Parts: sequence; structure tokens; C-alpha cells
Amino acid sequence: MTGPDDVLLVHGGTPLEGEIRVRGAKNLVPKAMVAALLGHGPSRLRNVPDIRDVRVVRGLLQLHGVTVRPGDEPGELVLDPTYVESANVADIDAHAGSSRIPILLCGPLLHRLGHAFIPGLGGCDIGGRPIDFHFEVLRQFGATIEKREGGQYLEAPQRLRGCKIRLPYPSVGATEQVLLTAVLAEGVTELSNAAVEPEIEDLICVLQKMGAIIAMDTDRTIRITGVDKLGGYNHRALSDRLEAASWASAALATKGNIYVRGAQQRSMMTFLNTYRKVGGAFEIDDEGIRFWHPGGSLNAIALETDVHPGFQTDWQQPLVVALTQAAGLSIVHETVYESRLGFTSALNQMGAHIQLYRECLGGSACRFGQRNFLHSAVVSGPTKLQGSDMVVPDLRGGFSYLIAALAAEGTSRVHGIDLINRGYENFMQKLKDLGANVEMPGGTAA
Ligand code: EPZ
Repeated sequence: MTGPDDVLLVHGGTPLEGEIRVRGAKNLVPKAMVAALLGHGPSRLRNVPDIRDVRVVRGLLQLHGVTVRPGDEPGELVLDPTYVESANVADIDAHAGSSRIPILLCGPLLHRLGHAFIPGLGGCDIGGRPIDFHFEVLRQFGATIEKREGGQYLEAPQRLRGCKIRLPYPSVGATEQVLLTAVLAEGVTELSNAAVEPEIEDLICVLQKMGAIIAMDTDRTIRITGVDKLGGYNHRALSDRLEAASWASAALATKGNIYVRGAQQRSMMTFLNTYRKVGGAFEIDDEGIRFWHPGGSLNAIALETDVHPGFQTDWQQPLVVALTQAAGLSIVHETVYESRLGFTSALNQMGAHIQLYRECLGGSACRFGQRNFLHSAVVSGPTKLQGSDMVVPDLRGGFSYLIAALAAEGTSRVHGIDLINRGYENFMQKLKDLGANVEMPGGTAA
């Protein structure tokens, strides 16, 4: 349910222009916070954004006896796991449904306490989002898992043991699960078909600073030699390449010009190539990347999402809004999540022409081709967008609706905007800084 405070009126048609800053990656920071649980001694994490996912993990860690306090510099957290303890199940339960991070507490809690309770998980509704890989991995390390009311209870009767694991799919979360568990397990763990996203590399950097021994091969194999003890870390989180790409897409769709301070070329190379093919312009310097619409018409493209180093699925939704403004037929094949194109129906209501297909369109066949999921799209453009009423469906879909509303003629009402706070720090202020004409019906103009 959304209330009046959760609605944003967007008066479209103004190009977004100016500068915003992105801080640490939403898909790294909460995991680095969990890693602090493994250390003997405090850890310092810098460049931490003020987003809901960080607050949820902070609450969960505090429930388990970790003290979390601000450090000396803005955006710094000091996490001290000296007094880790079991949390009250009812308290943990209160976090049920709020995030997908709790599952990653399993390994660290099993090492520290010998048991763990994990509530039902939340996160974006973009497909089934199963956690079978996670539990299979934990069983291979020697954990037992029992379903209890409100969640899963795990126990490690003995010290967890390193093992050989091959993931059925290079899952980001399952790879992190293995890393966070293997570093203190006895012996060597060999993980093949691992995810190798930049956020995972950064988590490996965190763990190495703590004393872990982790080697990455070029063929998606990660080898972890367990150690007996880890210390704290001092780390500056890599910046959020997904948020940066969202603002880049906003610049393109609104014919704007945005300097994204903190955006990094290295983690965005695939996005930048695609942005250039669509006709977007960018300029990279040491502090960030400027993105803009150079004028003229945009080009239709064929796009397939994939695990890193492919085109990241979280980049897809915002860029699709820009593709509604490109001349010709664009093809989008979503191969990571089976239902990440549902958000396009609201774009069609605004005047876009996007048709969904169950077949794998474009390059290669994926896991969803035979399974009846609407996971391919043909976007035909350019189409004028008109303001409309819409409800935020998920984090990236929600930001995409903001972009569409800003690019449209007339006024849109975007309901459920609070969900965007999960992963976009201070987005209302950023919109204001970029000259967007938006207001809360309750009176707060931004
Ligand atoms: C992470 O989710 C991110 N979330 C997602 O970002 C991101 O889209 C995704 O990785 C892919 O890059 C966080 O880091 C908190 P996966 P995760 O395990 O780890 C299947 C955003 O908007 N799978 O790599 O949950 C799964 O269904 C969010 O920032 C299983 O089948 O993703 C999916 O099809 C959304 N069984 C595929 O693997 C499992 O046990 C990839 O999921 C686990 C996953």
C-alpha cells in the first residue's frame, strides 16, 4: 500500500542538467558489512551510502551484538564484532521480508556461533528469486538446515569444511555465500562457474585485507584457502555502477547532461559501449563521468543482459526508457531474471510501443526460452511519452518510471516511491539538483 507521502508528482519535459554524486555500491556495501562479522577486531567501511538496505543490515548486525557507529569521515561506518551473540528469533523475524542480505549472514554466524536463524527474504519482485544454491552450498560445507516457523534454522555441528562446488549458474549471492563461508572453513574450497561482478571482486579485496587467501582464475574459478582467524579491515567501497548508469540513462531519455561524480569507467565499460552505440555521449575524467544527449536521433540496438562482463541486468530497465526514444526497433533479451520486463506495461500506457515475447530474441538461447516467461522485448521508437499514473514495481523499474515521467509531456503521479530509497541515496535531492520539476502532493517540492 502506498500513502500520500509515497507519491511523487513529476512535471515532465525538462532536461536533467547538473551534477550528482554516487557513493559506495548498494550491491557491495551490505555484504562488506556482513564480512565484518568474521573479524576479530573492528572494521572501517568508507563511502557508505545512506540507503535502506544499509540500514536493514546495520539493524541485523546490531541484533547479533555487533556495534555499528559512524566513523570520523562522512559515510564511514565502524563495525565491531567483538561481542557477537545469538539474536532473538522474534527480533530477527521483524526484518523478514525487508532484504535479501540476511541469507549472507549464514556462513559468518555458523563460524562465530555454530548456528544461525534466517528469516524469509525480501528484495525486488523480478522473478522467483530462489535460494536453493545458497542452501546447497552451505550443506556442502557441512551445515544442517531445518525449516522452522518464519525461516530456516542452520547448525554447524563441527567446523565447516572446504569443498568443491560448481554453481548451476553464476549467481552473485551464492558466490558471496561461498566466499563468506570458505574463508574460515577448514581446508581449500574450489568454486567453479562463480560470478565475477566488480562488487564480488571488491568483497574479495575486503576479505583479503582481513587475512583471507583467495585466488581468482580467468575461467570463473575461485580458490579459497581457509584460515583460522581473520582481523578487521579498512576499506573504501567501490562506487555504485548501477546507480551511475541509471542517471546516465536519465540524461539520455530527457535530452539532458549529467556529470556523475564517482562513476568509474572500469566497472562500467560494457554499459559505456552500449551507451555509445545508442548514440549517447560521455566523457571520462579522474573524478567521474559526464553523460549527455548530443542532439539528433538515437539508434535502436540489440541488447542482451548477462552476468559480468556482460550487460548487467540492473542497467536494463533504465536504458529501455531511453530506447523508447531511439529510431527503429530495439531488441532486448533479459537472460538473468525471468520477469524483469513487466515494468514496460506502464511505459506503453505512456505511449511507448513495447511488445514482450516468450522466445529468446537476439543472440543466444537462455534458461528461460523453453519456460514460457515473457523475457524478450521489441521496443519500437521513437515515441512521445505522456504523463501517467504508475506504481513503482521494483527498485530499478521504479527509477525507470521516474525517468519516463521526467521525459514525458505533462504530469505523472508515481506511487510507491519510497521503494526507491532502498538503493538510491537521497534521490529527491539529486533530482532537485538536476532541475527536475517534481513535488510531493503533501507540499514538499523538490
Ligand atoms: C544480486 O542479486 C543483486 N542484489 C541484484 O541487484 C542483481 O540484479 C543480481 O545480483 C544480478 O547481478 C544484491 O546484490 C543485493 P543472483 P542476487 O543470485 O545475488 C538465480 C538490484 O536492483 N538463482 O545473481 O539475488 C536467480 O533466480 C538488485 O540492485 C537461483 O536460481 O542475484 C537469478 O535468475 C536486483 N538460485 C539468477 O540466479 C539461487 O539460489 C541470478 O541471481 C540464487 C539465484
